[in-house]
Amino acid sequence: MHLYHGTFIDAPAQDELRVRKDHYLLVEEGVIKAVFHYVPEKYATLPVTTLAGTFCIPGLVDLHLHASQLALCGINMDLELLPWLQSYIFPEEARFASEEYADQLYAHFSNALLKSPTARACIFATIHSKATLLLMDKLEKSGLITYVGKVNMNQNAIPELEEDDRAARDTRAFIEAAVEKYQHTLPIITPRFVPSCTKELLSVLGELAEEYDLPVQSHISENKREIAWVKELLFPQASCYGAVYASFGLFGGKRKTVMAHAVHCTEAEIDLIRERGVYLAHCADSNINLASGIAPIQRYLKEGLRVGIGTDIAGGSQLSMFRAVCDTIRVSKLLAERMDDTSVIVTFPEAFHAATKTGGSFFGKVGIFDEGYEFDALSINDDTLIIGSPGTFEQRVERVFYLGNNEAIVSKFVGGKQLF
Ligand code: GUN
Ligand code: FE
Repeated sequence: MHLYHGTFIDAPAQDELRVRKDHYLLVEEGVIKAVFHYVPEKYATLPVTTLAGTFCIPGLVDLHLHASQLALCGINMDLELLPWLQSYIFPEEARFASEEYADQLYAHFSNALLKSPTARACIFATIHSKATLLLMDKLEKSGLITYVGKVNMNQNAIPELEEDDRAARDTRAFIEAAVEKYQHTLPIITPRFVPSCTKELLSVLGELAEEYDLPVQSHISENKREIAWVKELLFPQASCYGAVYASFGLFGGKRKTVMAHAVHCTEAEIDLIRERGVYLAHCADSNINLASGIAPIQRYLKEGLRVGIGTDIAGGSQLSMFRAVCDTIRVSKLLAERMDDTSVIVTFPEAFHAATKTGGSFFGKVGIFDEGYEFDALSINDDTLIIGSPGTFEQRVERVFYLGNNEAIVSKFVGGKQLF
């Protein structure tokens, strides 16, 4: 057992930033057992760590990103989704057939993610099993807690990046290698998106998810041309994009699922997402860069959908979840202007809650500083960001998200373990 002393700021409810100054967390085996504003007599002899920063926030949860696209961050911003994938993304991902390339790129990725505000993440790799296991080795060593998907895709890409009839066998072998090997790095079933997968492949993935009881991640309703393609050419009989995944057992219900984007959902699709408890990963920076549009996040929140936040690199150009939280707020303001309706604006506490407690719940009891929750924390020092008066703690957190970078994070704990 251990006591951590500091000022703890979290978002227990959607529109509430809670500040507890000078408190103590009692942590045992990575889990918060109690929260005190003094040290009770019976714990007086326990070791106490006073956290080095000025305050602590929960580690952030990146619900959607592509480790294999790190090298393309910040370039190739001239195309929409489908031509962008064909021209830039698929050729880059094909390079991960080389284990040497994968080793080098994934070392960069794991280091960058470790230093970032992210504690937990849902990550896409590529179709290559060996490279994906290399990524998992590195993430396991980092101490971060992640789901990692070997991507599945067998049509409509480039020949070097399409799986053949060995896809089912390879994916099963990948899952068996991964489920036994790691503690903090777990496999997740990852159909790239509907246009990339034949019915046969989606069907096999549904079976594997069921057999190994694995969660699912993919993309949904991101771009208008993508949606039209799914509807008119690929699955004309489906009631909506999400219904295609659902028909293969890849869309929530007992299958924990996260879908990135949901920019242009139909009413029926929103209902399906809610009914099946599917998590959405809102990726505002990516939606700007690829001219995808603005997802109506405030509406989703009001309707009780589970909305988390993702960086979606390299659609998004920044790995920082600080930035992804602010982008969520910023794009909601553009939507407010377009709709002439300020009620669609996402507030700072709402975006913070999405990136901590909602995203965290994909991983269990994660994302706030309460009894029974895993201890994931960023200790923050905001000295260099303050000009004049520091302001309230609520303002100081907001300033760190808008102006801060990795330098503001002086220590990071994930599942009770200090990573730096
Ligand atoms: N849809 C299918 N693949 C991708 C991808 O790699 N990035 C984004 N943003 N959308 C996708
Ligand atoms: Fe993506």
